[in-house]
Amino acid sequence: MKNLQKPIRNEFFSTKVDDYDDNNNAEVEELLLQGLEKKSLLGWSLYKYKGHWCSLDLLRPIIRCEKYFKARDTDVILATLPKSGTTWLKALTFSIINRSQYPLDENPLLTSNPHALIPFLERNIYRENEKPDLDHIPEPRIFSTHVHYKLLPTSIMESKCRVIHICRNPLDQFISLWHFKNLISTSGSISLDEFLEAYCEGTHDYGPFWEHVLGYWNAYLKNPEKVLFLKYEDLKKDVNFNVKMIAEFIGYPFSLEEEKMGLIDKIIKLCSFEKLKNLKVNQVGSLDSSLKNSYFFRNGEIGDWVNYLTPAMVERIEKVVREEFRGSGLMF
Ligand code: A3P
Repeated sequence: MKNLQKPIRNEFFSTKVDDYDDNNNAEVEELLLQGLEKKSLLGWSLYKYKGHWCSLDLLRPIIRCEKYFKARDTDVILATLPKSGTTWLKALTFSIINRSQYPLDENPLLTSNPHALIPFLERNIYRENEKPDLDHIPEPRIFSTHVHYKLLPTSIMESKCRVIHICRNPLDQFISLWHFKNLISTSGSISLDEFLEAYCEGTHDYGPFWEHVLGYWNAYLKNPEKVLFLKYEDLKKDVNFNVKMIAEFIGYPFSLEEEKMGLIDKIIKLCSFEKLKNLKVNQVGSLDSSLKNSYFFRNGEIGDWVNYLTPAMVERIEKVVREEFRGSGLMF
C-alpha cells in the first residue's frame, strides 16, 4: 500500500467565531468566563490558553486534539510557527518519506499544495471533526501543528513519534506574517506599526513567538532524538546537509546508491521555492475560498525585513528577542 496521504479538504480560516456552535467544552467555557480575551488585529477575539494565544475557532480544536489525538510511534509531527518555513518543511518531509512510492515526476506535490498533503491537527483535522478517525491513514502518518510544545497531546510525548520544528529569524518571520495577515484580512489592511505592537506583546495567533520557539528549543536540548530543531536560514544555506539530517532523524536515511543517483538533489529541486511557486497548482489553486495557494510563496528570502523595518522597529523586536532568549543558548 502507498504511504501517500491523500489531499485533504481544507477549511483554513473559513470558520468565523460566531458560526461555531460547539459549546460543550468545559475548558473553553472556563476560559471565556475568566475573560482572558483580547481583540485581535484581524477583528476577532484571541484567547489565552496555557500561555498560548489563539482564536476561539482554533481553541476548541486545539483542546480536542490535546485530549483525543493518539500518536503512533511512526508518526512525524511538523511543529512550526506560521511563516517560518512550514510549507517547505512539508514538501521536503513528504518527498523524503514517499520517495520509493512513485517516480519524482509523479510526485503529488506537482499537483497539490504541500498543505493539502499534510494536514494541520488543529486547523484541519480537529476543526472539522470532534473525534476524527485517523486509523485509516497508512503509516508513517505526517501531521503538522502550529501550537506550542506544551500544548502537544501527551501521546506525542509518550510515544516514540518524531517532532520536527523549524524556526526563522523573527525579523523575517514578522514581515512574512504581516504580509500574509494582510492577504487574508477581511477587515481592512493592518499597519506595520499596529502589527509590531501585537507581535512584541505576544498577542498574535500562536504567540508569543518567543514562547513557541523556546518550547521546542528546550525540548530539543532535553531530547534531541525526539525533537529536531531546524532554522530556515540553515536550511537555505545548506539544504543538502539538512535534508539528509531530516531523513535520518525520521528513520528514512538515504542509501549511498540513492545519493549517487542524485535523488537528494532531485528532491531539493522539486521542493525549491522557485519550482513550487511556479507550479500551476500554486499559481491558480486554493485551499479554500479565502486562501490561495500562492499566498504561501512570496519571495522566500533571508533578510527581506530591511525593506520594511525602520531602525526603531528593528530595535523594538531585537530588544524582545534579547530579553526573552537571554540564557537560552539560541541565537538568530
Ligand atoms: P516570505 O514571506 O519571506 O517569502 P510558511 O510556509 O511557514 O507559511 O512560511 C512561508 C514563508 O516561507 C514565505 O516567506 C514563503 O515565501 C517561504 N517559502 C515557501 N515555500 C518555500 C520554499 N520551498 N523554500 C523556501 N522558502 C519558502
